[in-house]
Amino acid sequence: MAPERLLVVNNVVKIFGGFRALDGISLDVSAGEIVGLVGPNGSGKTTCMNIISGLYRPDGGDILFKGKSVRGKSMHVLSKSGINRTFQTPKPFKGLTVRQNVEVVHRRADRKASVDDPLEFVGLSHLSDREAAALTSGQQKLLDLARALTAGPDLLLVDELAAGLSPVELDTIAERLIEISRRGVALLIVEHLLGFVNQLTQRVIVMNAGKEIFEGDLASAAQNQRVVEVYLGQ
Ligand SMILES: Nc1ncnc2c1ncn2[C@@H]1O[C@H](COP(=O)(O)OP(=O)(O)OP(=O)(O)O)[C@@H](O)[C@H]1O
Ligand SMILES: [Mg+2]
Repeated sequence: MAPERLLVVNNVVKIFGGFRALDGISLDVSAGEIVGLVGPNGSGKTTCMNIISGLYRPDGGDILFKGKSVRGKSMHVLSKSGINRTFQTPKPFKGLTVRQNVEVVHRRADRKASVDDPLEFVGLSHLSDREAAALTSGQQKLLDLARALTAGPDLLLVDELAAGLSPVELDTIAERLIEISRRGVALLIVEHLLGFVNQLTQRVIVMNAGKEIFEGDLASAAQNQRVVEVYLGQ
């Protein structure tokens, strides 16, 4: 039996003041799968996540989640349906402690968290009582991940987690993300650090100018002339 297609993005368009940031992007993610979304700066990766997570409304196309259109639904509603995300630039509640930042999500969520102790899971439990404002940018990204896991997603969108983390932290977090996917959570990973992408994914989608230009494994992407031209050759 073919794996269930948890998410289907179908020909989605997003226009900012006449500029087509997404120009008919289509992709799908199956339950428990880890898919990489890569491409040059400004190619539309974050916009794609902003649409899937309900932060932005698409100007064309459709998004199906668990077989139903979720086009135009809010982030709040989608979170309850099982779509959660991290942000390229996390914005924790800076006056709250690390633990309180997670508790806020816990009180709002009516789903079971993906893991028993999200802070422990991302390696931040030793900083539970620290104010979020005192965290490094890498730690703020881990906190953002802990918050997303607290909401208990079926689909987790991760936008550039690697920047600001050490190689050791990255290895640990990669293993843990794989562990989450084994429990059935699908992950869509936006990342410039291709070693990290390679560790995590069997399949990548390469974007350029709001469109998909390649889909396959990363090794094949590296052999693709167009991908090298617009992205890897830079
Ligand atoms: N809210 C917005 N208003 C206007 N333009 C936007 C907005 N969000 C994104 N854009 C534009 O859309 C294009 C795609 O941006 P996006 O952030 O999706 O790229 P990206 O692939 O995530 O890039 P990066 O790798 O640098 O994070 C860019 O030209 C960007 O300036
Ligand atoms: Mg981005």
